[in-house]
Amino acid sequence: MKKRYETIIIGGGIIGASIAYHLAKAGKQTAVFESGEIGKKATRAAAGMLGAHAECDKPGTFFEFARASQSAYKRLAPELKKISGIDINRHDGGILKLAFTESDRVRLAAMAELDSAEWLTAEEVFEKEPHAAKGIIGANFIRDDVHVEPLSVCRAFAKGAKLFGADIFEHAPVLSVEAASGGGVRIMTASGAVEAEHAAIASGVWSGVFFKQLGLNKSFYPVKGECLSVWNDTIPLTRTLYHDHCYIVPRRSGKLVIGATMKHGDWNDKPDLNGIEAVVKKAKMMLPEIGGMKIDQCWAGLRPETEDGNPYIGRHPENGSVLFAAGHFRNGILLAPATGEMITDMIVGRPVNPAWEEAFKVERKEAVHK
Ligand code: FAD
Ligand code: GLY
Repeated sequence: MKKRYETIIIGGGIIGASIAYHLAKAGKQTAVFESGEIGKKATRAAAGMLGAHAECDKPGTFFEFARASQSAYKRLAPELKKISGIDINRHDGGILKLAFTESDRVRLAAMAELDSAEWLTAEEVFEKEPHAAKGIIGANFIRDDVHVEPLSVCRAFAKGAKLFGADIFEHAPVLSVEAASGGGVRIMTASGAVEAEHAAIASGVWSGVFFKQLGLNKSFYPVKGECLSVWNDTIPLTRTLYHDHCYIVPRRSGKLVIGATMKHGDWNDKPDLNGIEAVVKKAKMMLPEIGGMKIDQCWAGLRPETEDGNPYIGRHPENGSVLFAAGHFRNGILLAPATGEMITDMIVGRPVNPAWEEAFKVERKEAVHK
């Protein structure tokens, strides 16, 4: 392990791995320190939907940032395959946001303000997905909300970063971070101190401790999501079905990923039977045949939520050597490319979209968390 790098990244989830990839590609000497293994926390738990429309519902800066990131995946899928040899399995089906009641329909109609959302009648839905529940009255079809395999994306970023010269340290928790006496940043690991010109904090829901060490009082809240996957060798399903925070995502392997609960404040990342039962119930409402499918596995992960639900992406207000990229809540897979690019642009001195900088800066005014 070197004693000094240009940039240190704390956390090797999809956000840290994307930053490492973009920085190493820009020629910066980069090191990632990961407590456990690359991508094995919230990243691995994710369904992988690039749900810019499905998750945002209204226009604005967040939606524009999400759309830019979603679109970056079109370029990244072949690029990462070529560089790392890993296929991120970008799947083109899109999302059908189902309406069962008139109030669902009215809520979905508001999405017409967003580009690429198209209302389909129940008959039009059945033409696309004949096995969708007969009780629907229609759906919003969002062609651009495709999906990827989160762990493959994270591994491809990490491997790509390594091939561009980055060091990736697994089982290497960072204990503390502080300003270095000679300028830059100093971190402490079990193997000793390491310094860098810049450090990026990308430790997911565990980032709060580093904000505090750096004099910032920001809290992170875990929102546990429980999921399961089943083997589907009985019916065709090519689009993600989505209703009431529940989704069924068809993977290329033939598996269907079914998620997810929203358990606020639960730090335990194991699924329980009540959680799995709740998502199965919602999934059966969208796709009745799913009840007969064989279970593959169940899991859970902790979404990193902030006070206002938006991520922190930007510099420490007083120490420009420290940057933050944490709190991506329900959309870290979607937002990873744009986050990695934005942090890299800040470090290498390239221009950054001022609206994004303002929306995601650390010292913004936030509503109190409920
Ligand atoms: P993580 O993946 O949690 O990575 C943080 C890393 O930091 C971890 O590997 C951890 O070990 C490491 N770390 C922590 N402390 C330290 C330390 N002291 N030293 C070194 N390393 C440390 N998003 C989408 O866009 N689409 C989806 O479909 C989607 N589905 C989801 C479904 C579920 C059930 C869940 C739980 C989440 C889902 N998400 C989805 C959200 C997404 O998973 C997260 O927003 C994203 O993974 C956050 O990435 P991250 O890198 O910030 O965090
Ligand atoms: N974005 C899907 C989830 O967080 O469950």
